[in-house]
Amino acid sequence: MNTLLLKNNEHDIKLSAEILRTGGLVAIPTETVYGLAANALDGKAVEKIFKAKNRPMDNPLIVHIADIADIERFSLVSQFTENAKKLALAFWPGPLTIILKKGSSIPDEVSGGLDTVAIRFPSHKTAQAIIKEANIPLAAPSANLSGSPSPTSAQHVFDDLNGRIDAIVDGGECLVGVESTVITLAGDKPRLLRPGGITHEMLCKVLGEVEIDDAVLHKLAQGQRVLSPGMKYKHYAPKANVILLKGENDEFIKYVNKKSDNETAAICFEEDEKSLCCKTVIIGKSTDYETQAHRLFDCLRLIDKNKEIKTVYAHCPKTDGVGLALYNRLIRAAGFEVIDLEKI
Ligand code: TXA
Ligand code: MG
Repeated sequence: MNTLLLKNNEHDIKLSAEILRTGGLVAIPTETVYGLAANALDGKAVEKIFKAKNRPMDNPLIVHIADIADIERFSLVSQFTENAKKLALAFWPGPLTIILKKGSSIPDEVSGGLDTVAIRFPSHKTAQAIIKEANIPLAAPSANLSGSPSPTSAQHVFDDLNGRIDAIVDGGECLVGVESTVITLAGDKPRLLRPGGITHEMLCKVLGEVEIDDAVLHKLAQGQRVLSPGMKYKHYAPKANVILLKGENDEFIKYVNKKSDNETAAICFEEDEKSLCCKTVIIGKSTDYETQAHRLFDCLRLIDKNKEIKTVYAHCPKTDGVGLALYNRLIRAAGFEVIDLEKI
């Protein structure tokens, strides 16, 4: 298949909307990461997403809208609850996905056979323009091959999916850089399933208490029930072995320098780069979580470009604010391997 490379101009937005309306796959920019979109109301079109990404069929997709009214217009949920309305008012359009009991129009391919559906209203203008022009809700997972780091630029999408999808719309680099926060309102209590740019603290301000699902911070025990199927798969991992180091900056530098050889790299803070002897990729200043989130997946992909690298050391992030999203992604990239520098 020849993959069209499109820009975010009027002509190309019309063309991508047409491809989507007729059952094709288009990678679109959003403020979090690039999404691989298909018509959410067409099970056959959605099935192609799973094939293109090599994604397990039981991992459900997020449905993207460009107007809150689309939820009722397309019967996406069985009830748009009061808590959902509060969150929508506070954070939409933006990097928040809300899970509710699904409506009559959602095909099984979208919900992965669950009785719920995930809804998101992205703030990216190009994503909104494409959804509006197509005049359908779009199912879209991150536009990477399953298991590899999510794409935050059109080039990342091209590297993974060229020849496997109909088109890629280039909207520049994604601002947030980690996927949306996922919260479920389908259970007894609001529960955070995946941390992102909308933080746990921000959600609590609107809803009061919000539980953090076990899978956010910990490796699930074999056979443990998982609310968000995506959390059980190995994720975000470059080919090299990622190891997280927990401790102060100077301990990090000392440990990495002791261990480093030609096959070692470090994902490091800007201020530490000069002190490290191995190859480095800079993720941002130590105090700037936003930049670190924005850069994370690009750093993981950069490591893969150097085939010699076998081991990558990264700081274990603190878990407040956007730090929780960084921790959640890095701990998966590291296969939950953390070395506590104070204990060695
Ligand atoms: O920022 C984002 O959310 C990006 C952009 C493209 O919008 N999309 C994205 O999709 O990250 P994906 O498929 O890579 O991640 C969606 C996550 C998965 O972990 C999936 O298991 C979970 O959301 N999910 C989707 N529907 C669900 C549902 N009904 N119940 C529980 N978890 C659900
Ligand atoms: Mg993904």
